[in-house]
Amino acid sequence: MKVTVLGAAGGIGQPLSLLLKLNLPAGSELSLYDVAPSTPGVAKDVSHIPTDVKVEGFTGEDPSEALKGADIVLIPAGVARKPGMTRADLFNINASIVRDLVAKAAQVCPKACIGIITNPVNATVPIAAEVLKKAGVYDKRKLFGVTTLDVIRSETFIAELKNTELRPNYISVIGGHSGTTILPLLSQVQHVEFSDDEVKSLTTRIQNAGTEVVEAKAGAGSATLSMAYAAMRFALSLVRAAQGENVVTCAYVEGDGKYAPFFAQPLLLGKDGVDQLLPIGPLSAFEQAALDEMLPALRTEIENGVKFVKES
Ligand code: NAI
Repeated sequence: MKVTVLGAAGGIGQPLSLLLKLNLPAGSELSLYDVAPSTPGVAKDVSHIPTDVKVEGFTGEDPSEALKGADIVLIPAGVARKPGMTRADLFNINASIVRDLVAKAAQVCPKACIGIITNPVNATVPIAAEVLKKAGVYDKRKLFGVTTLDVIRSETFIAELKNTELRPNYISVIGGHSGTTILPLLSQVQHVEFSDDEVKSLTTRIQNAGTEVVEAKAGAGSATLSMAYAAMRFALSLVRAAQGENVVTCAYVEGDGKYAPFFAQPLLLGKDGVDQLLPIGPLSAFEQAALDEMLPALRTEIENGVKFVKES
């Protein structure tokens, strides 16, 4: 497998590259690209770690060389949030970065699975879809908004609150990836009971966890290390699925349109990306109300993404 990281010299890109070098299966290739001129240096640095993963680094205006032969493309390129900014504030800068990088991926590696990390994910994924459609290579099974950070935060916060064992992927987080569009389905967590107050406060904490980090970093950016771990876990899910394993994970994809044209939900991954959209399952009254309430905002963010490409 060849994995390409676009934005590899950034706060997320560097630890993500390190984790992929450590965890990709033997014989894989890792290709690192960023407009930052230090990127070949990042690649050289990571390449000295003794694992059987070949690393190459590229910089300059054109990511084509880095994308050649990629099976998976991960995109954390862009600007990160500072205190006082919402993910939506990032739209104007990051929308064009994602549009242009995905256009290159459409030309060079049209069959690759693409994982968008760049915020606002609710809009950058529809942007990527429109660009791939324009290029005539859109396969909705292969385009993902990476929402794994919401899942790992949920895992951690539940274990902290209830003093339970940490178990990966034992909670679904549905909807989108900003504020109230992030909806952890706490009612479905097995063997753990939550009071109504706990459901409310835990849901709010998971939805605002990004802001918790932005404020604690006091101007130095947003989540990078936990995000790098989340993106690695997502990428390894795609790798394992490509190798024939049945893997269930949550991500933000173009689904069946029941709730919104793009929606984060549990998925069964297969050799070609999404194999099946899995049902979101029964919701509590609290979750149903939160879902109904989030949908107008989610749909607006999606429309903004589509409009951005149509008008550009
Ligand atoms: P950063 O500013 O540290 O790194 C971004 C990197 O992108 C920089 O190295 C920059 O040179 C590079 N870049 C900018 N334009 C580029 C282009 N056209 N081609 C290639 N590289 C380019 O930011 P950080 O902290 O790594 O965050 C990156 C993005 O990830 C932000 O949009 C942030 O909001 C998002 N993010 C997403 C999360 C998620 O859960 N999906 C969680 C945390 C952050």
